[in-house]
Amino acid sequence: MTGEKRKQRNQKQRHKGKMHLVKNCALSIFLILLVLLPACSAQKTGMTDTGEEAKELVVIGFSQLGNESDWRIANTESMVNTFTEEAGYELLMDDARQSQEKQIAAIRNFILREVDYIVLAPVVISGWEEVLSEARDAGVPVIVMDRRVETEDDSLYTAWVGSDMKAEGERAVRWLEECLKEQGRENEEISIVHIQGSLNSSAQLGRTAGLDEGLAAHDNWKLAARECGEFTQAKAYEIMRDILKVSKDVDVVYCENDNEAFGVMDALEEAGLTCGKDGDVILISFDATELGLTACMDGLINLNVECNPLHGPRVEKIISTLEAGGTPPKESYVEETVFEPEMLTEELIQKRGY
Ligand code: AHR
Repeated sequence: MTGEKRKQRNQKQRHKGKMHLVKNCALSIFLILLVLLPACSAQKTGMTDTGEEAKELVVIGFSQLGNESDWRIANTESMVNTFTEEAGYELLMDDARQSQEKQIAAIRNFILREVDYIVLAPVVISGWEEVLSEARDAGVPVIVMDRRVETEDDSLYTAWVGSDMKAEGERAVRWLEECLKEQGRENEEISIVHIQGSLNSSAQLGRTAGLDEGLAAHDNWKLAARECGEFTQAKAYEIMRDILKVSKDVDVVYCENDNEAFGVMDALEEAGLTCGKDGDVILISFDATELGLTACMDGLINLNVECNPLHGPRVEKIISTLEAGGTPPKESYVEETVFEPEMLTEELIQKRGY
């Protein structure tokens, strides 16, 4: 990546970060006012200024797992923009900062506050039985969004909507097979660095499983390193920098999200290596965020596998079905695709909304 492009990307990221902070502050003030002034809460029925009876808002307790990536920011915004008062909702959001303990505490708090629905974006896949049983016993439907929960009893949650993370990994592997064939390297030894996402999240487990299948199917694919980048740019940068200090013999870097790919790009550049379409290293990423796709369009990421974060309207569809007395599908997979540099234009990227 050229220094100029990196500067532009960092500027864009800083701008996005500031906007996010402003939005977060506004949301926090809004939520605090609702807690401090229960008498004013629009949740209660009463009279509107025009003398009509105000409609009761549907109260949603949303446990968001954190704020680790551009994807997550887009996901939070999608929820906040969907569950508005104008649309008939009161959204209580809790940011768990990557802690399952905090998510469990937030769910218990939502139950105490007698919310109508709980939406859970779970940080890890296991360990949810107890708290989900509590929600079920209290009669609060739980909608799981994005990553999955693994429970023996699937009646512990009402519905799930998100991506097929294993299929995403498989798409990446199929593409890599083709790419190496086109380059005439299908029999060469290929050294792969794997930067994983947060461990024990279904996003990490699925994408890792996809790569593992590829490694098992190709004797010449060698796993040079596998470390957890926590879905963040900073951690991925550190990992890649340290790997390159030991050896620069890297053919492919498989990053489990765009932010990790940015960190890897920085480390490669520092080590005097290039990546992407005409680079020394093949770079694979997941998410297809605006910045990730821009890096792909610029030829710096060879493949960006889509993981769509715009779940607000999808969760809303589930809730309106339940509100109308219907039964939403237990599982809804989002249709997704992959992107290579040649497929991308500025216009297409801007249209995608994240
Ligand atoms: O669960 C979705 C993953 O979590 C996204 O790929 C990643 O960017 C995010 O933080």
